[in-house]
Parts: sequence; C-alpha cells; structure tokens
Amino acid sequence: MLGSTGEGKEGPRLKALTVLCIGDIFGEPGRRALAHFLPRLRSELEVDFVVANVENAAAGFGVTPTLARGFLDGGIDVMTSGNHIWDRKEIIEYIVKENLLLRPANYPRGAPGVGSVVIKAGAHRVGVLNLQGRVFMSPIDCPFATADAEVERLRGETTLIVVDMHGEATSEKQAMGWYLDGRVSAVVGSHSHVQTADERLLPGGTAFITDLGITGPFDSVIGVDKALAIQRFVTGMPNRFEPAKGRVRVQGVVIRIDPESGRATGIERVQRELAG
Ligand SMILES: [Fe+2]
Repeated sequence: MLGSTGEGKEGPRLKALTVLCIGDIFGEPGRRALAHFLPRLRSELEVDFVVANVENAAAGFGVTPTLARGFLDGGIDVMTSGNHIWDRKEIIEYIVKENLLLRPANYPRGAPGVGSVVIKAGAHRVGVLNLQGRVFMSPIDCPFATADAEVERLRGETTLIVVDMHGEATSEKQAMGWYLDGRVSAVVGSHSHVQTADERLLPGGTAFITDLGITGPFDSVIGVDKALAIQRFVTGMPNRFEPAKGRVRVQGVVIRIDPESGRATGIERVQRELAG
C-alpha cells in the first residue's frame, strides 16, 4: 500500500509526509488559539509541514507584515490567502519580498506576489498552490486554467503538491478537487469558515475537503461578533465588524502523503477548542 513506512522488497521506504492544513486564522482570538495549539499539534500528529490560511488574521481583514513574520516564527511553513489579502496596504511591500505568503495564483497579471512556492520539508520538496474561486466572488482569471499551468510547472519540481482553493461555493471547490485528482496530493478549501464533514481520498490519490473551517471564535457568525452580524442582516445597514469573543477553535485537516508517488494515503479533520 502506498505510504507504508515498512521495508519492502525494494528496501526501506521513506516515511510518509505529514501535512497539517489550518483553516482561516481569524483575528486575535484565532492567533491566540493557534499559538496555544500549533506546537502541540506538530508533536502530537508528527507534522512535517504546516500550511495555514492567514487572510483574516488582522482583526478579520487581511494580514500585516508583523503578523506574517510571527506566523513563520511560530511554526507555519507556508501562508495562503484569498480575497482579503489586499485589505492591509502595508502587505504589498511585504508580499513582493516574501514568497512564503501566497496570494491566489489566478489574480490577473500585475498583481504583486506569487501564487505558488516549492520549499524543503526535511528530505522532501513540497509545493503549495493558492487558487481562488469566481462564484459569488470577484471575477478574476480562471482558477482551472491557472491550475493547469501551475500544476504542470510545479510537477517539474515535485509530486508533493498541496492546493488551497479559496472559494465561496462548495460546488466550485468540489469541482477543483475532482479536476486536480491524480495531479496533486491535496486540494483543501478555505474562505467559508465552516468546516465541512466531507474529507476523503479521491480515487486518483488526492486528499480533499470542501472547507477546512476556522481558526477563530466559535460563538460567532463566521468569526464576527454575532450581535454586529445580526444587526447588519436585520437592518441592511453597514456597520463595523469586530471579531467575536469567547471560546476559540483551531480547525483544519492532517494529511499523510506517500513521498515517492505524491499520493495521499489519509486525511482526517482536526479540531481543538480553547476556553475564552
Ligand atoms: Fe476569504
């Protein structure tokens, strides 16, 4: 079976690569939960590599250079993002220099930063690709056409490829999973802040989940203070959103990948809760 760590006829096999993918980190509560749980999860789950979506880390909107540097120092290997990546203007200067913070690869030509990266994780090289959907979102370039070009290029360097598909529509994220099945190790969805219960291995060897969930306040409306969110729905008037208080969850998945073939051999949901 792929991903076995035993010794077969051909000699010793490389240990499975374990990747932790963390759902959108939302504001200070999300950062606090991450700081508490990430070191524990890394050792408990024997994680080799951590990918996290950080586009809501600054009070729910965007990420700052200081926060991004803190995530890299705190044990995140590659940061992904999405539609909120440009919310903090100071991130532009940072993202052009730091390719460990990705923006969706299908932003039109001229957008600063990069949408994919390959980095070393122990004895392996891991590629991470960030894409963004177009259903109920800005009509940027086609994520499927971009995925074709990016995956082909990345596969020239490694077969271990993790894709963060940042999107609103479950259908578009599922379609991307099937579209890339057999070409990448994993497709994980982000953006909705609600963890889905559909994690699975697709037949071609790609691990998939429609949405990783949130790393942030749980008694909230997708991270936002529930009274403020309700007020906006009830009155139809704009108001200022703030992260909710109270208990906080870290959500995501842990994926095991056979390092020789790049096929995923397991995917499990992860959830930890911290009292508020
Ligand atoms: Fe988003």
